[in-house]
Amino acid sequence: SLLAPADLFGTSRRNSTGFDISDEQTLARIRAARDVAIPDAVPLTVREPSGTAQDVTNPATGEKIATVMMADAETAARAIEDARPWDAPAAERAAVLRRAADLYEENFGPILGILAREAGKSLADAVAELREAVDFLRYYAAEGEPRAEAPRGIIGAISPWNFPLAIFTGQIAAALMAGNAVIAKPAEATPIIAAYAVRLLHQAGVPLSALQLLPGRGSVVGAALTADPRVKGVVFTGSTATAQTIARTMAANLAPGTPLIAETGGLNAMIVDSTALPEQAVRDIVNGAFRSAGQRCSALRCLYVQEDIAPHVIAMIRGAMDELVVGDPWDLATDVGPVIDAGARDDIAGYIAANGNRVIHKLEVPAQGTFVPPTMLRVGGIADLEREIFGPVLHVATFKGDKLDQVVADINARGFGLTFGLHTRIDSRVQEVSDAIHVGNIYVNRNQIGAVVGSQPFGGEGLSGTGPKAGGPRYVPRFYAPQAPAPAG
Ligand code: NAD
Ligand code: ALA
Repeated sequence: SLLAPADLFGTSRRNSTGFDISDEQTLARIRAARDVAIPDAVPLTVREPSGTAQDVTNPATGEKIATVMMADAETAARAIEDARPWDAPAAERAAVLRRAADLYEENFGPILGILAREAGKSLADAVAELREAVDFLRYYAAEGEPRAEAPRGIIGAISPWNFPLAIFTGQIAAALMAGNAVIAKPAEATPIIAAYAVRLLHQAGVPLSALQLLPGRGSVVGAALTADPRVKGVVFTGSTATAQTIARTMAANLAPGTPLIAETGGLNAMIVDSTALPEQAVRDIVNGAFRSAGQRCSALRCLYVQEDIAPHVIAMIRGAMDELVVGDPWDLATDVGPVIDAGARDDIAGYIAANGNRVIHKLEVPAQGTFVPPTMLRVGGIADLEREIFGPVLHVATFKGDKLDQVVADINARGFGLTFGLHTRIDSRVQEVSDAIHVGNIYVNRNQIGAVVGSQPFGGEGLSGTGPKAGGPRYVPRFYAPQAPAPAG
């Protein structure tokens, strides 16, 4: 018989419904966080931390919003010494994570406000991020609750600034659900939302010795976490280069076989063939390339359009780009906010300037703040992309109808394998290209960002990551100690 929706999703596995920011009362609670003082970030460690104070600024305005104490190597060592696996029954751990999910939702005003002020997230992007964080908490609670396996011990969790709540929370939730002690190191640019989240997790009932927060430099506390043999596993999301550094550090210092779960960068492509519906493709191209100011690992970087429809599609992309509103993250009309800091802006702007002869279209952006113009560049193919440009830059190539296999081979040859999009109305082509392309997440006739926890497990292969996919059934099991098979008979 058909299952009712309640049976399909179950209360413990439902996805967050999010927040309606067009509702005046909801918006008022978010906007209340716009001008109020927001709490500073300090290491939340068992013993008194030490470190140096640093300003945290709003990328859109440059305004100082709070300070962070950047922990030193001694604090990292003490955090490792004081860490204790969470030895409560799995059902109790799951209940605490669900309580934390509820607390995240109840505190949506300050959370969305901090995401906008600290990370420059547009309100729509901030809502999506909060939903994903809540989904991770509930999904991993449901995944781990029936399991009775032993934890690994102490897990170092190192996260990026571009999903400073969702990825930060997802790593912690999975490791905690398996009973480990977690030492969480947020990105340098986004310690405030991390500290806010960890306070909510402690409030929900996670013991301090099972979850400590260690804001600080990657080269100091990140390096300390990955070089200490008391650490029994590292979960990392960030650039491919940093993952490679961490892998070398772990290999030199930790026991052989200590797991590194690494989710890293991508050079993500989309192919649009001449049977595609241009209106649908263009909407997905523009969302995939420019939403979140292109600061998603999953973002579309290199578009291949079949030659015979290319002039039409490119003209439509220009038109759609002209409709994008670039500006204040607090404005509901905003599609594209600032990039994370002046260093990122200068890097991306420098890349665009160096490729000035390839510009097909470029928008104007506000002079104040760290805005980068959404830009479309012409390239011969993905081989022309020097590296992952982590911003709103779309590269466009064309291909002849009989060269599709070569395009797929060129994409595979770059060695990244995160997301891939295909727009076509030829059913057999979907299967052929899906079989040939080496990526973690393939999206057909839709955009390639915003994987949904529990429905679209997310993660890449090759230079894009080790797996297991986040938000999928293989993720939590990686955080248990390996077990000998049960004796036969
Ligand atoms: P990053 O590699 O610069 O930093 C990530 C984290 O690593 C930060 O917390 C940083 O402090 C820490 N770190 C830096 N050096 C370290 C070291 N030597 N030892 C230990 N830790 C160290 O990345 P970023 O700029 O914060 O994030 C953007 C990158 O992340 C992009 O490449 C993007 O594609 C990738 N990303 C991947 C995914 C995914 O799921 N595959 C998701 C989001 C972001
Ligand atoms: N999980 C994020 C996405 O799919 C990175 O866009």
